[in-house]
Amino acid sequence: MTVYQATASAPVNIACIKYWGKRDTKLILPTNSSLSVTLDQDHLRSTTTSRADASFSKDRLWLNGKEEEIKEGGRMSTCIREMKRLRKEEVEDKNPNEPKLSTFNVHICSHNNFPTAAGLASSASGFAALVSSLANLYALPVSASDLSLIARQGSGSACRSLFGGFVAWQMGSNPTGVDSLAVQVAEQSHWPDIHALICVVSDDKKGTSSTSGMQRTVETSALLQHRIKEVVPRRMEEISKAIMERDFDAFARVTMADSNQFHAVALDTEPPIFYMNDVSRAIIGLIVEYNRVGVEEGRGYRAAYTYDAGPNAVIYAPKENVKEIVELVVSYFPQREGSFKDNFGLFGGGQVVGRIPAGFNENVAKRFEVGAVKGLIHTRVGDGPRKLGDGEALLNGEGLPK
Ligand code: DP6
Repeated sequence: MTVYQATASAPVNIACIKYWGKRDTKLILPTNSSLSVTLDQDHLRSTTTSRADASFSKDRLWLNGKEEEIKEGGRMSTCIREMKRLRKEEVEDKNPNEPKLSTFNVHICSHNNFPTAAGLASSASGFAALVSSLANLYALPVSASDLSLIARQGSGSACRSLFGGFVAWQMGSNPTGVDSLAVQVAEQSHWPDIHALICVVSDDKKGTSSTSGMQRTVETSALLQHRIKEVVPRRMEEISKAIMERDFDAFARVTMADSNQFHAVALDTEPPIFYMNDVSRAIIGLIVEYNRVGVEEGRGYRAAYTYDAGPNAVIYAPKENVKEIVELVVSYFPQREGSFKDNFGLFGGGQVVGRIPAGFNENVAKRFEVGAVKGLIHTRVGDGPRKLGDGEALLNGEGLPK
């Protein structure tokens, strides 16, 4: 008996030009285009196994070891339905000899290799891995942009995780959503020197979710209208040019300005939304001062912060600066042992000791207690979804989680 099963992994992406606002909440069509960097799956990824079987009584889903309900009409069920539709249209209708997998129920098991508690958005990598594993299972002859149309309906930012490198989500204009898809601006190999340092900031309170927060912004913020019409279209051009020219100074200026404006439209929402906290703002202070020194020395901007809908900082920087940035961050945010995983061997397995670069004004921030930044993850620009072998499958012989 043939087993119809496939496993895929997909990366996290962090936007430089932020998606914030929907013009259609059901189809997930955004009010502006956005652009992100795909992060390396060697460090952060979602892995998903999908299996189709005539004996399965319903579609079932397990996330990080726990079964989750697939709500009728919800985002997960929409993605599964759309993938089955593609299987039927692209494979079964064209070749009647192909097994009718679109009529079988599926079992889906997904796992993130980073703790949800780290406060990193897992919906982007999660939906991208789901769509990729189903595309492999169904042997779909479609492009990554085609798949992005479906991942988008799981979570907007997920459409950008269908590609590696530097990725734009073009907002499109068609009310059906056919032109609201992800495209690759540049491969990871075009600018592999772009590294990222994720500062995991402690956060006890439950914040406003992206989904509900952005809708409130659309309904109440006047500043958002200016952002959509005037600011984002220009910035999409500027950042694409910066990427093509590997101009880090320009890349950094646009990235930080856009993070700032995203948090400004959150503040401009009624009632206001705050995602950054004192620790987040202190990290901004460090990067601003670090860049001031860089400009004074004639080297331009050397790091760029960006923040999503939470207090964690992601610092993009050319790889040669990352060691210095880690030492700087650690000077203000002392780390518990083991809270920095030295993925690139910068410290040769030794202890990270805080160090302030020459010319840096130490008074730009106060020193925080241990644990204010509870972890540092060093990663870099990475590739798109990967097809994995059966050895990495998350389902056992019966089609249940291993
Ligand atoms: C701040 O993609 O999580 O990270 O489409 O409602 O699922 P939904 O929202 P989501 O929003 C991400 C917002 C952001 C910016 C970005 O990734 O572009």
